[in-house]
Amino acid sequence: MSLGALLLWELPVAAVSVIAGVSGIRWLWQYVWLPRLGQGSRLAQRYGAGSWALVTGASDGLGKAFAQELGRYGFNLLLVSRTQGKLDRMKSDVEAHGVQVRTVAADLSNASDQTFARIAAAAQDLDLSLVINCVGATVHRRYADIPAATLRQLISVNVNTTSVVTHTMLPLLLRHAAVTGRRGALLNVGSIVGRFYWPGTQLYGACKAFVDHLTIPLAYEYRDHVDVMSFQPTVMATAMATGTEPAAITITPQQAAHAALSQLGHCDTSHGHWRHALVAAGLAALPPMLRNRLLLSQALEMGKVELKKGH
Ligand SMILES: NC(=O)c1ccc[n+]([C@@H]2O[C@H](COP(=O)([O-])OP(=O)(O)OC[C@H]3O[C@@H](n4cnc5c(N)ncnc54)[C@H](OP(=O)(O)O)[C@@H]3O)[C@@H](O)[C@H]2O)c1
Repeated sequence: MSLGALLLWELPVAAVSVIAGVSGIRWLWQYVWLPRLGQGSRLAQRYGAGSWALVTGASDGLGKAFAQELGRYGFNLLLVSRTQGKLDRMKSDVEAHGVQVRTVAADLSNASDQTFARIAAAAQDLDLSLVINCVGATVHRRYADIPAATLRQLISVNVNTTSVVTHTMLPLLLRHAAVTGRRGALLNVGSIVGRFYWPGTQLYGACKAFVDHLTIPLAYEYRDHVDVMSFQPTVMATAMATGTEPAAITITPQQAAHAALSQLGHCDTSHGHWRHALVAAGLAALPPMLRNRLLLSQALEMGKVELKKGH
């Protein structure tokens, strides 16, 4: 083989090896190294000790795990979810860490101006540094089998609420950055379902793809002052997934929240926990026909469990 032919063959191989090596190291840094580091002092220093964090869907599951972890790190909390009794229990739990807690009980499937005005009013006088849009709703069924009311509710909770809360709270994050000279943070919770075309949960997937497409551009628009992350977990052991969770890929909401917070400020998009990142990589590697078959049958099984739960 001539020198020219050898270079022609070897240069691309070398370039591909370097790209694969760098991607592998970045993956290990993001999913293995960052979550092992203590986060309390980093987050307090970056966003301001004693500043406030708003968490929606905060009384259960992933939102509760975010709120508990941030409370342990010394952030004051503005918690939003549907049921006042659950919020009150969360409030007394988290206040044990010596932080202040405000609550707003609101049904976020009711996308009225009044609903959002109540959240805005509760946040207005706070030094708000962190916003976590965690509330979400799902359904697994063939599209024509989804009741119209469920369809509207899903769009309202996942799409309207995430867009409006983000739109309402960004000025407060920017105010925090201007006044304190520190950064603000916005973490919007999507799902791995939004990263694939997912037969059997197409509506939920479309809503979560919306969240992803809304959020990632904001990371660039506000890069000077606000850390923005689109978070796409896979299955967590929460009420939403009860009875449907495949053991090998299910993690606790605490593991998911911790991993996401450890990557906030470093990445604009993440699956959070390394196990969930592997699931995403595995799904992406499957041929579409096989992936569709697998995803549809799994989604329809989940739909049967949801119907038994009365959803
Ligand atoms: N669980 C999973 O496997 C999984 C996987 C990927 C992504 N996600 C995403 O992660 C996020 C959290 O899910 P999760 O599993 O933690 O859910 P969850 O355990 O069902 O908790 C939902 C929380 O949101 C609140 N909530 C639900 N509907 C609401 C509404 N209409 N208005 C106001 N608050 C409402 C609930 O409050 P009440 O208890 O008062 O109703 C509760 O605090 C969602 O965005 C979900 O799409 C979950």
